[in-house]
Amino acid sequence: MPKRPTIKLAPSILSADYIRLGEQIAEAAAAGADYLHVDVMDGHFVPNINFGPLLVEAVHSCTPLPLDVHLMVEGPERLIPWFVKAGAAIVTVHAEACRHLHRVVYQVKECGARAGVALNPATPLAAVEEVLADLDLVLVMSVNPGFPAQKFIPGAVGKLARLRQQLDEGGLAAELEVDGGISTETVPAVVRAGARVLVAGSAVFNRRESVAQAIGRLRHSVRAALGSGE
Ligand code: DX5
Ligand code: ZN
Repeated sequence: MPKRPTIKLAPSILSADYIRLGEQIAEAAAAGADYLHVDVMDGHFVPNINFGPLLVEAVHSCTPLPLDVHLMVEGPERLIPWFVKAGAAIVTVHAEACRHLHRVVYQVKECGARAGVALNPATPLAAVEEVLADLDLVLVMSVNPGFPAQKFIPGAVGKLARLRQQLDEGGLAAELEVDGGISTETVPAVVRAGARVLVAGSAVFNRRESVAQAIGRLRHSVRAALGSGE
């Protein structure tokens, strides 16, 4: 029987209660989160604006979880050293925001972090193909970035499956991550398509349940999707 893949969960603090941010992060860590996803928006690449390196530094000082920093910014090369110094373990840039993507990927690595590239829903896989072998992570956006709690765009499923095939056929180790609209409803499709890191914001941090309950329900959906008999 083929070995079941390990699926990582990366709660996004974009949807956390900022007044209790430290507590919410501790809850996510205690519930078995693998990464902590930190969305960074500049008001240019995406309409919204939020966290900077100082917040990343504060988060890094309060948790052992690796920080998966998603830079939704124009010209990320200006900011990469700041975010790595602040404690980012993974820095993901958008292919659409980089004129010299290969150079930016190596800048992230030379600064000392793992390098990821994200693709917007309308961006074809071809935008990342030539650097796929250089990446530690590739992120398929399943919403147009900028806001939490948006509706999952179903086209992401086929894109994940095609990328999974490319990674497997090429023997490439980049982690395949999906971000946007991930919930117990969408987990089965993305896991079966080959995603290995699931970002979840509003499905983890919400007023309906505790962080532990939310993570528990997502894990259950993952196990069900992989056919562990639960
Ligand atoms: C979207 C961000 C996401 C966001 C996801 O612009 O990149 O990481 O937090 O939120 P949900 O999981 O609520 O769609
Ligand atoms: Zn994100």
